[in-house]
Amino acid sequence: MRACQRVARVSVVAVVGLGYVGLPLATRAAEVGHTVIGLDSDETKLSALGLGCSHVEDVSDERLAAVMREGRFRLVLATPTQGDPARYDYGFNGFDIGIITVPTPLEDGKPDLSYVEGAARTLGRRLRPGGVVVLESTSYPGTTEGLVADVLLEESGLQPEVDYHLGFSPERIDPGNEQHDFETTPKLVSGTDAAALAAVESFYAGLVKETVPVSSPTVAECAKLFENIFRQVNVALVNEMATLAHDLDIDFWQVLDAAASKPYGFMKFTPGPGVGGHCIPVDPGYFTWFAQRRLGRSSRFIELAQEVNEGMPGYVVERAEEMLGRSGLLGAQVLVLGVSYKKGTADQRKSPGRSIVDLLLDAGALVTVTDPYARNWTATTSLDASEAAGRAADFDLVILATDHDEFDFEAIGRSARLVLDCRRRMPANESVHTL
Ligand SMILES: NC(=O)c1ccc[n+]([C@@H]2O[C@H](COP(=O)([O-])OP(=O)(O)OC[C@H]3O[C@@H](n4cnc5c(N)ncnc54)[C@H](O)[C@@H]3O)[C@@H](O)[C@H]2O)c1
Repeated sequence: MRACQRVARVSVVAVVGLGYVGLPLATRAAEVGHTVIGLDSDETKLSALGLGCSHVEDVSDERLAAVMREGRFRLVLATPTQGDPARYDYGFNGFDIGIITVPTPLEDGKPDLSYVEGAARTLGRRLRPGGVVVLESTSYPGTTEGLVADVLLEESGLQPEVDYHLGFSPERIDPGNEQHDFETTPKLVSGTDAAALAAVESFYAGLVKETVPVSSPTVAECAKLFENIFRQVNVALVNEMATLAHDLDIDFWQVLDAAASKPYGFMKFTPGPGVGGHCIPVDPGYFTWFAQRRLGRSSRFIELAQEVNEGMPGYVVERAEEMLGRSGLLGAQVLVLGVSYKKGTADQRKSPGRSIVDLLLDAGALVTVTDPYARNWTATTSLDASEAAGRAADFDLVILATDHDEFDFEAIGRSARLVLDCRRRMPANESVHTL
């Protein structure tokens, strides 16, 4: 690892994709003095950003407004066709550093790199000799030197290592995590050759406290996937243990605390209602697809972990049914706390809380949702988070799916008739059951 040296040079930085990854990056780059062009294809998102309203919890409206006010953060609509020419500056002449932070979903189990391709075309049309392009979106090994380099060549006629610098630097951002943020989380950096690595590292050294150079984009791409596979597999292991321990009548949370007292060779993961967000349920699929395509081999651990985690919302609903006894879920009044995929964020992508709500509705339950981050929730009736404790006793069952700190767990646990706590935020007793 290398301690970072700040870069004195001020650059024009183009960030393509202003989501959970791109917005914190763009804001930080503007704060350290770069001129930032933020491109996005979502006009609604750009309109809000233009008014200084951040959709990402890690970037406050104040930070955003400050860089906008100082003129260091300019918004550009990436696809101008339907836009209002009066409101956006569609053009930008060029950039010194172009960064791709667009989604990389799976479509029927196959990587969908159409967003990365679109972003690379946008940058390729403005790429100049001496420029730097970095892919941050998560993808399978070889994407940077394959697809991204090919598209940039098509659009610009320029070759990496000859005309410009190309690299990959995975984002490790954990939305809502106040302890490890964009600046304090070590950043992996890579380039296709030594000069590219130096250029990429020099840029990020000005943004974060520590950079970690690796030998190639392939290593960095695979490291990012492995980090998320590691998490997915360990979450599945602890979830499976928790479900088996429940049937064996063993208090698994006590087991977990006991095991976690070992100071080496053990890392604590906690059971929960499943995995969500754009990373853990998706990224491992990039590796399994890649290994299958290149080697014709399956990645058994990863596939099994995925199966276990995907089964968790169903397990939660089975436990709910069991708790309600003879009356069952049909017609039961159920309050679900939290529908974003984890606490402190509004992100509902692949959220287990949402799956639990769907399964409860399928079973005929009358579902109410409360989540301070789920503005505009219309799928069921909803309740303000501040009312949850006062109203908890009105429901046959309360399911704590996502433990936002805004909930008054103590008061809910005290007043509810029956609780299924999937996050162990309340002491277990006759009416409060943990997963
Ligand atoms: N969300 C996380 O916690 C996280 C963490 C680490 C890595 N990642 C990875 O980072 C990448 C981005 O994830 P995200 O969560 O920020 O996604 P996001 O959906 O929040 O943001 C992506 C943005 O890109 C825009 N976009 C799509 N295509 C575009 C194009 N051609 N031109 C311009 N803008 C375009 C979208 O409108 C959207 O605003 C993914 O590869 C993801 O796996 C995400």
